[in-house]
Amino acid sequence: MKQWNSEEEARNEIKTLIGDYYLQYKKNDEVFRPGDRINYASRVFDEKEMQSLADACLDFWLTAGRFSDEFEKNFAEWIGVKHAHIVNSGSSANLLAFTVLTAPELGDRRIRRGDEVITVACGFPTTVNPIIQYGAIPVFLDVTIPQYNIDPDALEEAFVPGKTKAVMIAHTLGNPFDIKTVKDFCDRHGLWLVEDNCDALGSKYTIDGVTKFTGTWGDIGTSSFYPPHHMTMGEGGAVYTDDPLLNRLILSYRDWGRDCVCPPGKDNLCGHRFDGQFGELPKGYDHKYTYSHFGYNLKATDMQAAVGVEQLKKFPSFIERRKHNWKYLKEALIRQGSEVTDKIILPEPAENSSPSWFGFILTIKPDNGRNKVTKYLEDNNIQTRLLFSGNIIKHPCFDEIRGTDAYRVIGGLENTEEIMKKSFWVGVYPGMTDEMLSFMADCIGKAVREL
Ligand SMILES: Cc1ncc(COP(=O)(O)O)c(C=O)c1O
Repeated sequence: MKQWNSEEEARNEIKTLIGDYYLQYKKNDEVFRPGDRINYASRVFDEKEMQSLADACLDFWLTAGRFSDEFEKNFAEWIGVKHAHIVNSGSSANLLAFTVLTAPELGDRRIRRGDEVITVACGFPTTVNPIIQYGAIPVFLDVTIPQYNIDPDALEEAFVPGKTKAVMIAHTLGNPFDIKTVKDFCDRHGLWLVEDNCDALGSKYTIDGVTKFTGTWGDIGTSSFYPPHHMTMGEGGAVYTDDPLLNRLILSYRDWGRDCVCPPGKDNLCGHRFDGQFGELPKGYDHKYTYSHFGYNLKATDMQAAVGVEQLKKFPSFIERRKHNWKYLKEALIRQGSEVTDKIILPEPAENSSPSWFGFILTIKPDNGRNKVTKYLEDNNIQTRLLFSGNIIKHPCFDEIRGTDAYRVIGGLENTEEIMKKSFWVGVYPGMTDEMLSFMADCIGKAVREL
């Protein structure tokens, strides 16, 4: 058996080997040729992520530990919030963000079953699912084209005094929703604002001269670190807030609903583990096993966090490349002239925003044109995506509740319908080269001219 002089020496040797392994087997040096596969998204990484992951594996701590602490601290600092917590997915982040708002500690502002939460039908299902699963009522508003975000003109009509408790919506494909109007509305009526920031990490928004990252304007922000997203941990997500009470609730609901805040593997940090009086428990019942909420276990592992720690260091360059790719595609399509641009609706960034784009969305004007274009692109090895659910109400998961008072709809959702039938998107992930983008724009142009 090989002997090392120290664990550090052993780790360094393993990491050096992993670096070589990355260079020989994982580094992608292939030059793009038209017709090669272009995915809508992919993880972008190098040996650093693999070495960090190996470090966490060698710790064999397995659950949340030193890498989770490091990630949470660095992420909170980077995005500009006081508290950030990692979870095992973006969907879990949304579930946690919503559930926290049902806590008794929030008094009159607490969301109860039957209360209403304003959202959109045109988006990702797990922004809405926690509302339905809890027994609150999602109120669906239409979205605007070409921003693909909530139509703020419909907010006042949706509001019911005493019943409306929150707005929970995503920044679609990186494009911030009209945060100023939505936030003013929430502030005016004392509503919670949950920003599903899963597709917009790195987007910025300015109000009255103050510029901040999306996800930090509302009461709670959520992120996803699933591989196609802006940065990855494999599976993973985060929930963040500036509010100390919400922060405490996030920790409790994430970690089994418990009252105690000691991290995994730590006991009695406050020194009062056995002298409290809670609920109807006997005095001194172990605080570590005292539950103040109906929580979950949504924690992520240190292996995930170890990858995240390295991804975060690369993240500013990812944002810049996403912006470059989006601009490149838009300009390349505009250059193709009115034969193409008359038949499509190009995306537009929200006012006062600097989006960190997740994708490049197009709406194809001629009826039945969208599927012809996506078929042509897929036949040419260019991966396409629809705007997630298009209209969540039309999906089989709504069969049992469709037409009931389990949800409300404001207006006719005309743009939502239009997007479901006519829109699609392609990727702008940082691994894309100008050659790929140019080929994509050419293919989109060819397909659209044929319509
Ligand atoms: C807007 C939005 N919210 C939430 C999620 C869920 O994230 P996850 O896949 O990590 O559960 C996604 C996933 O892509 C998303 O696009």
